[in-house]
Parts: sequence; C-alpha cells; structure tokens
Amino acid sequence: MTGILPDFLGETVKRINLKSYPQVRQFVVQHLYPDTLRLLLLLHKHVELDCVIGIGYSGDSRVVETLEAEGIRVLTPDFNQLQDTIKKELVASLQRCQEHNSGLVIHEVGGYAIKTLHSHCQEHIHLVKGALEITKQGVWVAQEIPHLKIPQLNCAQTRLKQIEGKMVGDAVAAALDTILRNVGLSMVGRKALVTGYGWVGAGTAQSLRTRGMDVNVFDIDTIKLVEASVDGFAICRTTDSIGSPQFIIGVSGRQSITANIIDQLPSNSFIVSGASKDHEADLPYLQSQSQSINEVHKHIDAHTLKDGRIIYLVNKGYPVNFTGSSVPDEIVEFLFSELIMLMQVLLENPPQAGIYPLSNELEEIAADIWLSLR
Ligand SMILES: NC(=O)c1ccc[n+]([C@@H]2O[C@H](COP(=O)([O-])OP(=O)(O)OC[C@H]3O[C@@H](n4cnc5c(N)ncnc54)[C@H](O)[C@@H]3O)[C@@H](O)[C@H]2O)c1
Repeated sequence: MTGILPDFLGETVKRINLKSYPQVRQFVVQHLYPDTLRLLLLLHKHVELDCVIGIGYSGDSRVVETLEAEGIRVLTPDFNQLQDTIKKELVASLQRCQEHNSGLVIHEVGGYAIKTLHSHCQEHIHLVKGALEITKQGVWVAQEIPHLKIPQLNCAQTRLKQIEGKMVGDAVAAALDTILRNVGLSMVGRKALVTGYGWVGAGTAQSLRTRGMDVNVFDIDTIKLVEASVDGFAICRTTDSIGSPQFIIGVSGRQSITANIIDQLPSNSFIVSGASKDHEADLPYLQSQSQSINEVHKHIDAHTLKDGRIIYLVNKGYPVNFTGSSVPDEIVEFLFSELIMLMQVLLENPPQAGIYPLSNELEEIAADIWLSLR
C-alpha cells in the first residue's frame, strides 16, 4: 500500500513477473506528479531511468527531489524550451547508451521524443528498442513520421483510456472552475462552446453541464454531432455562427479555436484548452490581434484586441488541467499498469517498426488488478 491507495502498480509488476533489464535505460518525457513518481520509481528498479523531462512542470518540488535523490537526471523546462531540451538530452542519453553498450526505451506522453529521434538522431536510432506512449497525441505524431524506424507501443486507444477520458474531461472542468473561483467568477449559467466531442471532449461537456453551464458542442465529425445531440447538448453545425459563448474550450487535439472563431468571440470571453499541447487555439492569430497583454491571474492573460474586445487566455493556451493534477491517481494508475505491461512486451517480444496498441488480453489483466485491489 502507498498510504491508502492500493498498490496497483506493484501488483502489476508481480502479476506479470516483470524482470530487471540491466542493459536497457529509459528516456522519459512525462508529467511530474505524485502518481508518475510512483510509476517512475517502480520502473527504475527494472529499467534504469537515464533522464526524466517534466512536461508543464507545475512545481511539485518533492517529485523532482525524490527522483534526484535516486541519482536520476531530471529537467523541468518551460513549455517553450521543452522541444529543445528533449533534443539536447536525447542526444546525450544516446551517447551514454553507446558508451555503456546499452539499449534505450523512450517512455513518453505526447510523441515529443519519437519525433526528435527521427529528425535529429538518425545515427543512433539502432540503439533504441522502441517507444512507449500513453496519449493519442503521441500516436498521431508517430503516424506522421514518414519512415518509422522503431516500434511504438501504446495504451492510448484502449478501453480503459476511453474511461479515463471521461475523468480527464471532469479534471478540465474542475481546473477551470478552480481558476474562475480564484478570480471571483462562477461557471453557473454561463454559455460555453466545447470544440471536439471525443473521449475527453464528451467528458468535458458533461462535467461543465453538471456545474451549471449552458454547453454547446461543435465537432467536425457529423456523427459526433449526432452523439452530442442525443446526449442532450445544443450543437453548432459549422463554426460560421457560434452564437456568443463566454467560454470556448478546445478538446480536439488539433487546432479547433480558429481565427474565424476568435473573431466571433464576445468581449470578456475565455479561451481554454483541454487537450495536450498549446495548439488548440490559433495563438499566433490571437497574438497578431492583441494590442496589449496583461496577466490578471497567474493562469489568465487578458488580451486587449485592436478592435477593443478583451479576450482571456487561460494557461497561455496550454491545457487548463496542467495547472494541477486532478484526475484521481487510482484512475491514472490503470493506464500505468498498461504501460508496465507494454514495457515487458517491448523488451521480451520486440515487434518490427510500427505502431501497436496494447492487446485486449493484457488490458483485461490491468482491469482485473484494478477491480481486485480497489
Ligand atoms: N488534458 C489532458 O490531461 C489530456 C488527457 C488525455 C488526453 N488529452 C488530449 O485530448 C485530446 C483529445 O483526446 P480524445 O481522446 O478526446 O481524442 P478523440 O479522437 O476521441 O476526440 C477528438 C475529437 O475532436 C474532433 N475534432 C478534430 N478536429 C476538430 C476541429 N478542428 N474542430 C472540432 N472538432 C474536431 C474529432 O472529430 C474527435 O471527435 C488529445 O490531444 C489528447 O492527447 C488531454
């Protein structure tokens, strides 16, 4: 047991009999929260952590200190330095692997390292056993690499990940609610437009509605619009007429808050992302229309536009729930169980280069462990 949280991860390691792999090291790009700390410390006993890079580090210094106390190299760059840091550190990790005759496993969230590996580290690619990925975003990145040279194993499209999506949506709504309360605003009765009605978007829309918001939905997929409609949401068939939402929440994983949408937003409205990077809103366009930008809260910037409107950008366009860890650990941990299983698959039965989801049989084990210990 870790406090009162059942030891889902320790049980997973036991159940699958995960071995130690002294000739393999891990290069990690992850969020640094207490739940990831447990995962990393456990995996470190089996596959040594060479380097850990924190995404959107929100200042939990205990996580960093605990990893460093284990002798692990940890970096927590700002978002705008993330890609450069990954590039520099991946090159250094690969050099260390070469010197020590070790292989490397990439363990990441968002496909940052797999992309960098293919664009900047071709000469060392043979040292990489493969990549483990938790998010759809990271799978989409791998799909766009023209000649993928390593296997990417993912738990991004499993049924448990879909279940987590609902909770992520709730975390997005909760994080926004917290920030609004900090500045004295309430969600109740306000109009919101959610762009993207996928796993996370549907959860976000439901959770915003539960908090009293008047929620509309837009998705480029007509079938998703039918689903949103059947779930009781008002829908926008196009983005040419979005009404006057006071909040626009992008949860598509692509750019959904376009210049056209920004032009239609009323003054004092909020732009929010619930996805995984800063690409949900057309930030260069917002920037180009801004006469001045003032921080009105540590997670809200007021953009005064040339036409006089004020638009509030939450968390500089990065996901609002990155301002704190709010998906309960026991939910995230069924995915971490899946990741541990992927590590074993990669190191025991490495597949050819390509993209592979976790098998249904292994997912059943993660689900069984979760239900048995809970
Ligand atoms: N914030 C977090 O903590 C967190 C956690 C998990 C996943 N995510 C991210 O959330 C994003 C969504 O994940 P998901 O699992 O819901 O994906 P999904 O594929 O289930 O849903 C995406 C939806 O967006 C729609 N869409 C695509 N482009 C659009 C556009 N331009 N306008 C409107 N809708 C559009 C798609 O049709 C689809 O219905 C991904 O980037 C994922 O990595 C974030």
